[in-house]
Amino acid sequence: MADKKSEIRNPKSEIGNWQPKIIAFLCNWCSYAGADLAGVGRMQYPPNVRVIRIPCSGRMNPKFILAALRSGADGILVSGCHPGDCHYLSGNYFARRKFALFRSLLDYMGIEDGRIHFSWVSAAEGERFAEVISEVTEAVRAIGPSHRLNRKVMGRR
Ligand code: FES
Repeated sequence: MADKKSEIRNPKSEIGNWQPKIIAFLCNWCSYAGADLAGVGRMQYPPNVRVIRIPCSGRMNPKFILAALRSGADGILVSGCHPGDCHYLSGNYFARRKFALFRSLLDYMGIEDGRIHFSWVSAAEGERFAEVISEVTEAVRAIGPSHRLNRKVMGRR
């Protein structure tokens, strides 16, 4: 049986071939369509992102972010329709407020600011989507692997 301590990864030895894992929660009506447009337009962006489609950014529960971090994500992107364009009228305003509050909690927990990103991307902004993904990936890469909540690293299953 493997010693629990041996399961704890050594971040310095991993950094060489480490690639950030980023979870992007995209609203169905704008950002997901923007991602689709970037794909159809064959726009280049880092392959580090895994997309989870949500009906609206207002549906975003902060628990989703914590669950993603606990499951090994190094960075999170939440993206929705531009202010005034939400298909449910005010979902993105709620999301923005929730996110502002949640950011202080993350700060309190010691989660670096550059791990969690929030952006507006419309269905017509494939190029912007590619830019946002590149920026988020670089920001997370600069911080390094996330160990704070990662269950595997902490030796818990
Ligand atoms: S439907 Fe896109 S943010 Fe509400």
